[in-house]
Amino acid sequence: MYTINNLPYLDLSSHVDLQGLELIEKDIIFGIVKSRGFISEGCANTKNCYDQAIPSLLMTQWKDYLQDPSNPNYQYYKELQFVVRDCLMFNRYVGKYQQMGQVLYLRNTVDNGRHGIWSKSYSDGCSDRPGYANFPALREWINNCKIFDEIGRILFFFNAPGEPHSIHKDTFTGHPDHFILINLNTDRKTVFVLDNDGTRHTLDSKVSVFDVRNYHGSEGKDFYSWTLRIDGIYNKEWAESIGIWDHFKPIGP
Ligand SMILES: [Fe+2]
Repeated sequence: MYTINNLPYLDLSSHVDLQGLELIEKDIIFGIVKSRGFISEGCANTKNCYDQAIPSLLMTQWKDYLQDPSNPNYQYYKELQFVVRDCLMFNRYVGKYQQMGQVLYLRNTVDNGRHGIWSKSYSDGCSDRPGYANFPALREWINNCKIFDEIGRILFFFNAPGEPHSIHKDTFTGHPDHFILINLNTDRKTVFVLDNDGTRHTLDSKVSVFDVRNYHGSEGKDFYSWTLRIDGIYNKEWAESIGIWDHFKPIGP
C-alpha cells in the first residue's frame, strides 16, 4: 500500500484548528439540514459488486463503458443519456452492489476545465454550489485554515446507520490527492484504508489524510453520520512543517 511517512494514514487533528471546527459543529449540521434539497446519490468506481462483472473504473472511464451497446443495461443507460451518476444509481438497484450513500457538494468540479481530472484540486477547477451559502461559519473556517493555497472540491459523505460505502480507489495512477477528511464523530462512522492483504486501518482521528491510491471505504455505526472532505493544493510551508510535502508534491498533468 501507499503509506505516508510509513503510516497508513496521518492524524492531522493537531495540525488544524480543530477546536474552531468543533465550535461550529452544530452550525454545520444546521447547514446540512437547510441544504437537504441538494443532497444526491453518491457514486464511485466500485469494487463491491457481488453479482455482476462491473469493473473498477475512474469516473471519466465510466462514460465509455456505459456507451458500449453490448452492455445488458444499455437501453436504460441510453435513456438516461449516459449521465454517469444516474446510470450508476440504476446499477445500484439492479445489481447487488454498494455505492457511496449520499453526498452534498458545497463545491464541485466544472466541466471542461483546464485541469482535467485534477480539477477537484484547483480553485478555478471547481465552483461553489448552492448549498455552500448555508455554511457561513464553515466557509470562514476553510478560508482561514492555512492548510491550502487553493481550495478545490468540498463535499459531505453521509452514512445511514449500518450503511457501508463502496470500497474503492479515487485514482489508479498518478499522484495522491491533497485533501483533509473531517470526521468529528468517529464513534458514528468507521472510515478505513485497506492494506495490500486486506487489513483495515481505521482512521481513528477527527481530521486525517491518507493516500487515495489505496482502497478505502466507510461504514455507518448505530446512528446517522457525516464526514467532510476538502480538496485543494496544500500550502507548501504547512505540508513541510508536518513532513508530508515530499509525498504529496507532484500534482497536475
Ligand atoms: Fe474515495
